[in-house]
Amino acid sequence: MWTDLRAWPYRLHDVPYDLRAGLPDTRLFPYQAWRRLMAAELRPKDHDIGDPGGLPVLREAIARHAAVSRSVRATPDDVIVTSGIQQALDLVGRVLLEPGAHVAVEDPGYPPAQLLFRSQGMRVTGVPVDAEGLRVDALPDDVRAVYLTPSHQFPLGMPMSLARRHALLDWARSRDVVIVEDDYDTEFRYGGRPIEPLQSLDEDGRVLYLGTFSKLMRPVLRLGYLVAPPALRDAFRMARYITSWHGDPPVQAALARFIDEGLLARHIRRSRRAYQERHERIAESLGSDFADSLTPIPSAAGLHLSATLSGPSDKQAVRAAEAEGVALFPLSEFAVTQPPMNGLIFGYGAITLDEIPEALRRLRGVLA
Ligand SMILES: Cc1ncc(COP(=O)(O)O)c(C=O)c1O
Repeated sequence: MWTDLRAWPYRLHDVPYDLRAGLPDTRLFPYQAWRRLMAAELRPKDHDIGDPGGLPVLREAIARHAAVSRSVRATPDDVIVTSGIQQALDLVGRVLLEPGAHVAVEDPGYPPAQLLFRSQGMRVTGVPVDAEGLRVDALPDDVRAVYLTPSHQFPLGMPMSLARRHALLDWARSRDVVIVEDDYDTEFRYGGRPIEPLQSLDEDGRVLYLGTFSKLMRPVLRLGYLVAPPALRDAFRMARYITSWHGDPPVQAALARFIDEGLLARHIRRSRRAYQERHERIAESLGSDFADSLTPIPSAAGLHLSATLSGPSDKQAVRAAEAEGVALFPLSEFAVTQPPMNGLIFGYGAITLDEIPEALRRLRGVLA
């Protein structure tokens, strides 16, 4: 796990072939439109002191966007604007969990969420996942919260089945457990029918839904949101206020206009086409050229796909690939408390379609 920042895997810049997961394509971003909106918001205006939940115009725009593209049920008052999902997780810990509380996460899973809960004094346990997502039957009894990525399991990529979602909600209801639903890249879907988020299946207000603009736009903007059940709304607004006041109103106002003017929807459509081509190119090659060493894990969404590796250790393979100018992450790095899986994660946000064949050719040389 990445507890040492010197080992942070994004430190490596300017690799010729970048297959690291988690990075969107910064070249696709509509800079001209964003500059125009930011310039308009940086004139003297009346929003120097903001609303701790986020500017009302942005909360309205997010509630509409989340309903249309993610089937999330939210009024503008349910939305708290955050500096990405990472801050939303921090607020969840502050508002709902005591130090020492037991938090269950998917295993393999998303390291920054585990680091955050551990930094708040929580005990974190990894729970195995299978083809249907988190194994509800393997959840420890004394858990207070479950953090998971049901739309596109990070890092394996499969969605959580509808039956499993209902099983998790039933389990959580019977024990009064909080569910933290991280929906980080749901807009990029290349096939199959989307399954309803836990948030809209939930009938008793125990799901906290987290969304982000890091993949849709750029992670440097630090824009995300939390949808809280009405009973928790004020506590979250207060926690947001205490820890970072009202965020960044000019950027929030620019984002509201970006959504309202249809620019976000257009950007998503354009990016989705580009990412789908890359996804298909990599999936085809894994299925044919790597059939003897890699077994792809079925996935039809997001900015990465994963495959289990037979033969060399994934860390060795990644080191050898790096020497050949190809950067990617080993699956074993994402283990929490379960035995690590041996595999590779193929991110296609940062690499162009034209670069993919050469990146995979080099990787084949390494695995041969
Ligand atoms: C599982 C998961 N959650 C959340 C995020 C984004 O977090 P943030 O909104 O803090 O940038 C990522 C980005 O890589 C991710 O992979």
